[in-house]
Amino acid sequence: MENIHIIIYSQSPLETEKIGETIGKISKGGELFLLQGNLGAGKTVLVKGIAKGLGIDVQIVSPSFIIMKNYYGRLILNHIDLYRVNSIEGLGIEEYIDDNSSVTVVEWGEKLISLLDLKEYLLIKIDITDNNSREITLIPKGERYIKFIERAKEWQI
Ligand SMILES: Nc1ncnc2c1ncn2[C@@H]1O[C@H](COP(=O)(O)OP(=O)(O)O)[C@@H](O)[C@H]1O
Ligand SMILES: [Mg+2]
Repeated sequence: MENIHIIIYSQSPLETEKIGETIGKISKGGELFLLQGNLGAGKTVLVKGIAKGLGIDVQIVSPSFIIMKNYYGRLILNHIDLYRVNSIEGLGIEEYIDDNSSVTVVEWGEKLISLLDLKEYLLIKIDITDNNSREITLIPKGERYIKFIERAKEWQI
């Protein structure tokens, strides 16, 4: 069970956005997505797609300097960026994660796993394989996210 994962190949920012859109569309509320990948991997591009899939119609910008932004669509999108964050004390991230009316997406989200001792989440790793090519790996932790990735009929664009 622990080794279940899906690898999706993206050849353009638009394809990555589409993958995000699927993630947004099949979200039901209360999901936690942890995005892992180097600077410029495409984490924010993926979040743009997730927002679209949640029916959010505004420009998504990287919240690097403000840590968190909330957007309102079919569900609330909590977009968090932990790039420059060393301590999450006082950010109230736990409360966002527990909220079933929102979806929480965390850039550099792997930092949270040990900080909060998280048991359930979807880890989304983005690896740069070429200028415009990305390898996107969905790694579900917990039964809930195994079911989640099965909800999409097809992942590969
Ligand atoms: N297949 C791809 N998927 C996502 N982004 C891509 C892809 N190919 C090229 N890019 C470019 O990579 C950059 C990703 O930027 P961004 O999403 O801000 O990265 P991050 O948030 O991971 O630092 C953008 O300039 C985007 O146009
Ligand atoms: Mg970013």
